[in-house]
Amino acid sequence: MSFTLNINGRKHTVDVEPDTPLLWVLRDEIGLKGTKFGCGIAACGACTVHIDGEATRTCVLPVEAAVDTEITTIEGLAGNGELHRVQEAWIRNQVPQCGYCQSGMIMAVSALLEQNPRPTDAEIDEAITNVCRCGTYQRVRDSIHELSNA
Ligand code: FES
Ligand code: FES
Repeated sequence: MSFTLNINGRKHTVDVEPDTPLLWVLRDEIGLKGTKFGCGIAACGACTVHIDGEATRTCVLPVEAAVDTEITTIEGLAGNGELHRVQEAWIRNQVPQCGYCQSGMIMAVSALLEQNPRPTDAEIDEAITNVCRCGTYQRVRDSIHELSNA
């Protein structure tokens, strides 16, 4: 079936099964490889994008559920040639190690800060459940607090 998706401000039409996970569509049909596959069961957060501003795990989201939404991937987070402030903080504080989880981490954190500009540690724990095998959690937390106080 044919589906038209609004991704990073551009329309893309793909021909896939309705239950194809959005993650496969982003990566394999559209070529946006910044969004990563980790677990495939909505447990790790590597596949997180924004759907209508909400951090959403795309490995379990059927493509048909993403029609008529605004999808933003890591490739679309920066605007007008400027990095998003979360991306800048990530560079400033050298948050990533291998980097594999970090697209999803940045998408989750940017959505959190949009909804809650000054999250407490408890709120961060609740909202940011992304898994990082390199253990960058403390630098993620420190960067969120730095951005909260900016
Ligand atoms: S790949 Fe989607 S949550 Fe792990
Ligand atoms: S930076 Fe390596 S998995 Fe998170």
